[in-house]
Amino acid sequence: MKISSICCIGAGYVGGPTMAVIADRCPCIRVVVVDINAERIAAWNSDSLPVYEPGLEEVVRRARGRNLFFSTEIDSSIAEANCVFISVNTPTKTYGKGAGKASDLRYLEACTRRIAQFARGHTLVVEKSTLPVKSAETVQAILSVVSEGKTFDVLSNPEFLAEGSAIQDLFNPDRVLIGGQCSEACAALAAVYANWVPLDRILTTNLWSSEMAKLTANAFLAQRVSSINAISAFCEATGADVEEVAQAIGKDSRIGPKFLKASAGFGGSCFKKDILNLVYLCEHHGLPEVATYWEQVVILNEWQKHRVARTVVEKLFNTVAGKRIAILGFAFKKDTNDTRETPAITVCLDLLEEGAQLAVYDPKVSKASVLSALAHAGPTSTQQIFSVPSALEACAGADAVVVLTDWDEFRTLEWMTIASSMRQPAWVFDTRNCLDAQFIRKLGINLWGVGKPSNTKK
Ligand SMILES: NC(=O)c1ccc[n+]([C@@H]2O[C@H](COP(=O)([O-])OP(=O)(O)OC[C@H]3O[C@@H](n4cnc5c(N)ncnc54)[C@H](O)[C@@H]3O)[C@@H](O)[C@H]2O)c1
Repeated sequence: MKISSICCIGAGYVGGPTMAVIADRCPCIRVVVVDINAERIAAWNSDSLPVYEPGLEEVVRRARGRNLFFSTEIDSSIAEANCVFISVNTPTKTYGKGAGKASDLRYLEACTRRIAQFARGHTLVVEKSTLPVKSAETVQAILSVVSEGKTFDVLSNPEFLAEGSAIQDLFNPDRVLIGGQCSEACAALAAVYANWVPLDRILTTNLWSSEMAKLTANAFLAQRVSSINAISAFCEATGADVEEVAQAIGKDSRIGPKFLKASAGFGGSCFKKDILNLVYLCEHHGLPEVATYWEQVVILNEWQKHRVARTVVEKLFNTVAGKRIAILGFAFKKDTNDTRETPAITVCLDLLEEGAQLAVYDPKVSKASVLSALAHAGPTSTQQIFSVPSALEACAGADAVVVLTDWDEFRTLEWMTIASSMRQPAWVFDTRNCLDAQFIRKLGINLWGVGKPSNTKK
């Protein structure tokens, strides 16, 4: 069993970058990424890729047209491949049983049925999407009803990349996980990754462990964010400094230094939906205490986002009605254009509800994306939102600046210019602790940092 031709269904934040790296590192394998979204495929074939990731453009440029192709020809691409990756979205269900928690598996089912119909000969079917444990059973069940000499092996190969560092993570993964029942099929997929990943980082497990490991990894990562954010509020109440606390606990090798940065909360398309899915599955399996334990990670995250907005209102004399507030950063983290579940949505909606005028600037998020993310989340008056082409313009005339994304360019803003252009008394709210607080305070601006001792003008 040797993989020579790959079709990846789903050209999103995972399918696009993952397949670009496989094609780049395996010039002998033909890789076709397909999607029902023709606009997205056209963007992958253009100079303006639909996903922003540092280093992605270079990789796509190297492989596109050589052995990497983006296409809407789904059926023929499945037929030509001997390995099909499923990389479609698996959002939280919004209807019926499990609404608000369970994963919506209709996209998975739709593309599995298509694989069943159009695959030829023997095909490896690889779950790249994050799925509920035991999803492979569903995939196998759908594939098992076809005849005409077609055979399948189903593997789980969850993706652990983080947006913002996807290319780096794909080139140099901590581990590649392959779950499957057939050792030959696992070995065939492992051989693809072995082109650039050291063998001791390619782990093989049974199917269910692999599916479970992805949900568990996201739950543990999100739990660290909620843990440090919970402590950030306690720090503010006591005069402790969350960064000093994080540094002190991070030195403990059992805890480690990563993912201990306080913020307005975690975002992105995965953490919330994957934990809610875990919660749903635990409830389903009669484990309510386990479900409640993990659900608290999401509840704390929602609380932290609202807490930031509440703090802004409180500091501005309990009213932001008619006040201009600069929002610096809208993506859920730096180095991505992804706004799904970004804390900025909640913070902005809360401030809009209080009557604020928001001047939003993000280097990689367009006005249309800001408006659509906000409109999708709740009723908004577009007359209260301005999208401006620079951070300086956002801050001009503002009563407050709220830094929500830790883009590098925000570390070196011209604070002297900003200070003179803001309405006094001016406030800066740094939800990433990425600014030079001492310098900004010296300019006469009040500064609040998440989890930091209260504002003292130095
Ligand atoms: N975004 C991340 O950082 C990340 C990381 C690891 C794992 N994941 C998981 O990977 C999966 C994909 O995530 P994403 O962020 O790439 O999602 P995405 O929404 O960016 O992309 C999914 C794509 O699948 C396409 N699609 C849906 N149904 C289809 C069908 N039947 N045929 C063809 N195309 C179809 C959609 O049009 C969309 O372009 C999810 O399960 C997610 O949980 C995401």
